[in-house]
Amino acid sequence: MLGITVLTALLACASSCGVPSFPPSLSARVVGGETAQPHSWPWQISLQYLENNRWWHTCGGTLIASNFVLTAAHCISSNQIYRVALGKHNLEVEDEEGSLIVDVDTIYVHKNWSYDLAINDIALIKLAEHVELSDTIQVACLPEKDSLLPNDYPCYVTGWGRLWTNGPIADELQQGLQRVVDHDTCSSSDWWGTTVQKTMVCAGGDGVISACSGDSGGPLNCQLENGCWVVFGIVSFGSPWGCNTFKKPVVYTRVSAYIDWINE
Ligand SMILES: *[C@@H]1O[C@H](CO)[C@@H](O)[C@H](O)[C@H]1NC(C)=O
Repeated sequence: MLGITVLTALLACASSCGVPSFPPSLSARVVGGETAQPHSWPWQISLQYLENNRWWHTCGGTLIASNFVLTAAHCISSNQIYRVALGKHNLEVEDEEGSLIVDVDTIYVHKNWSYDLAINDIALIKLAEHVELSDTIQVACLPEKDSLLPNDYPCYVTGWGRLWTNGPIADELQQGLQRVVDHDTCSSSDWWGTTVQKTMVCAGGDGVISACSGDSGGPLNCQLENGCWVVFGIVSFGSPWGCNTFKKPVVYTRVSAYIDWINE
């Protein structure tokens, strides 16, 4: 019965979003991060900028439509030239099979983004072309408007950055379990206090088993009961005292608070 339910759910969203061709390996191992199954997060992109005739990875992001990428506002600097790499697993391998480099048409940074308050840390990148979806390039689902996930809900952060304090910088895409910390807990005074707004979501931060932020701008991937993966958060900021700091989980922009903005 359960098998049939799951299969139906998978079929229900397979054609649109949030179902990878190569399922992620969600092991019970939760210390730090681990290398992802290649192409199991096919909506993960690498945002790259040009400097000294070379392209450098700067942030993660999420493909949410065939020509739109969601990332963090703090990833965008107005005087840089960007491009987006899709379908990547190892950033050091050029011309990786199934990967694609696309130019940027326009970047929309939330107009009320505040660096000082870290609020509205969200930006949309319109790609110069519609990309062809494939086994290695797919779109993530958006969460339902204003939806929340319960405390402790298991989600996964993915990125090419350090997955724990002073950890190695990864060439291969990393993933780390991040359990949701609800707003009441995260905004209490011994956690993040008033720094954390309702437009944000905290995940991780028990100081023991939590992974750290992947790359800024990248997704907090949460699998809903229907089997589809949604980009529930965008990596925004973490603790200056280190990624595994007790009661200082990584703070994400809560995508469900920005559905109207995204659709606009
Ligand atoms: C930005 O803030 C202003 C003033 O609070 C508000 O009226 C406006 O709706 C906000 N814009 C967005 C896109 O949220």
